Amino acid sequence: MAKETVLTLLAKKAAGEKISQMTCYDYTMARLEAAAGVETILVGDSLGMTMQGYPDTLSVTMEEMIVYARSVVRGAPECFVIVDMPFMSYQVSVEQAVANAGRLIKETGANAVKLEGGAAVKEQIKAIVDCGIPVCAHVGMTPQSANAFGGFKVQGKDEASARRVLQDAFDVQEAGAFMCVLECVPATLARIITQKTRMVTIGIGAGPDCDGQVLVAQDALAMGVDGFRPKFVKHFAQVGECIQDGVRAYVEDVKAGTYPSEEFTYAKSDLGPALAVELEAAF
Ligand code: KIV
Repeated sequence: MAKETVLTLLAKKAAGEKISQMTCYDYTMARLEAAAGVETILVGDSLGMTMQGYPDTLSVTMEEMIVYARSVVRGAPECFVIVDMPFMSYQVSVEQAVANAGRLIKETGANAVKLEGGAAVKEQIKAIVDCGIPVCAHVGMTPQSANAFGGFKVQGKDEASARRVLQDAFDVQEAGAFMCVLECVPATLARIITQKTRMVTIGIGAGPDCDGQVLVAQDALAMGVDGFRPKFVKHFAQVGECIQDGVRAYVEDVKAGTYPSEEFTYAKSDLGPALAVELEAAF
């Protein structure tokens, strides 16, 4: 598969070809996602929940994003890899945003950074883009602001809120974002943004008319342990069940002493009978 770039992704939007994106946080999974043909990978700060067990994304640090993103880039060199800027790595000042975006690109080899927000982060997006770093924006329900929203709630449902999301989308486009995640917004609003902007729109809980779709891998593959499933999440495979079945079978075999059987034992390099007798006698 040829390496995806900003240009190939924009060309896909122009041609009406849908774009696949999935989150990923480690090397093994990156190899699997790339082999399955995913075009863009998001090293999302959702890793705070999926990989670290926090209730939200707010505790994730720059150092943690760098460790996870490096592993993903090594596993999926053919994919376009986008790394999330964690909470408070870009809000404090434009200078800090640029320095942290630079670190994410330099220290991981990723292709773009993603930051949440609209009008409030215009200056940051512009400054990062001016440094030659592609930016994916993220508007609608932005999880880093869940406390301000009163939870993970659909945005853009009433007129004022819909106008705000639309304005956010135009603001981040004007600032230079080439891609924009639209999270948990009405499908019609996502369609309007997709049609009226040049940006590649990537929907999550935003209906079918975005240029592409993203899902958290653990959601799409039914790897959650708490059983919660948001309305927009489709389970494309029962990987959680498959892993549990495999681990259960392993535990059963170990307990029963049936693993490792002869098939899984180094017979040829085993001690000869004479040496075995000698060693047994020696101790
Ligand atoms: O962190 C993340 O995984 C995200 C997606 C949900 C879009 O931002």
